[in-house]
Amino acid sequence: MRIGILGSGLMGGKLGTLFAKAGHDVVFSYARTPNKLEGLARDAGNRARAGTPREAAQNANVLLLAVHWSRVDDVLQQAGDISGKILVTCSLPMNADDTGVVVAHTSSGAEELAKKAKGARVVSAFGTVPSEVLFAVYEARERERRPSLVYSGDDEEAKATVATLIRDLGFDPVDAGPLAIARYSEPFTLLMARLAYEGDEGPAVAYRFERYEEESAGSE
Ligand SMILES: NC(=O)c1ccc[n+]([C@@H]2O[C@H](COP(=O)([O-])OP(=O)(O)OC[C@H]3O[C@@H](n4cnc5c(N)ncnc54)[C@H](OP(=O)(O)O)[C@@H]3O)[C@@H](O)[C@H]2O)c1
Repeated sequence: MRIGILGSGLMGGKLGTLFAKAGHDVVFSYARTPNKLEGLARDAGNRARAGTPREAAQNANVLLLAVHWSRVDDVLQQAGDISGKILVTCSLPMNADDTGVVVAHTSSGAEELAKKAKGARVVSAFGTVPSEVLFAVYEARERERRPSLVYSGDDEEAKATVATLIRDLGFDPVDAGPLAIARYSEPFTLLMARLAYEGDEGPAVAYRFERYEEESAGSE
């Protein structure tokens, strides 16, 4: 796949690097210094390069939006026309000091994004784990028990593409349903952040759902 990274910080830098390692063509864009983008591209190998948001968007079939909520309008405006493209968002609708969400309950960041990025096929994914765990999950991808990663969206074909990317990075994709489910997955990330950053066990934490056979009535 050809993947454009819109926002090459903690999440975009790492996810882009791993997409390139997994064999995808990646363009890193949107940082305050071009040097940073070039360094990321160099370190990610010969499938990666640096560019402007417009260049990242132009030839991409998948775009990753990984900016602070306050930068969404700016990066979208710089990216230009992205209609028809798959727009994966890990961005949370956080307030300026990152203490709470500014959209919740009756909408989600992902749904608000879909209104802004008209024509783009928005999928919410990757935002429910901290950046610090991404390399460890990728390194452990041959293990049988993979961590889960929820994703949601309204376009089934776009979701199938994103599920492939989730698998490429070492997670077990869990289809949580329509984009509106981001109303639940986005606040869940605040729980993950609590576990990652407030405890004594370090930030490299992921999650895994386990399913069991339904117990028949009266079974012991
Ligand atoms: N970090 C996590 O573990 C995590 C987990 C789940 C979800 N999220 C969400 O993912 C999104 C990205 O988070 P992040 O931690 O990756 O953020 P980040 O490290 O701050 O990265 C944001 C990127 O945007 C760039 N940027 C900011 N202002 C800019 C401007 N005026 N012009 C050009 N570029 C600009 C930054 O440039 P510089 O590189 O120059 O700073 C950086 O590359 C957020 O919505 C966050 O809520 C983060």
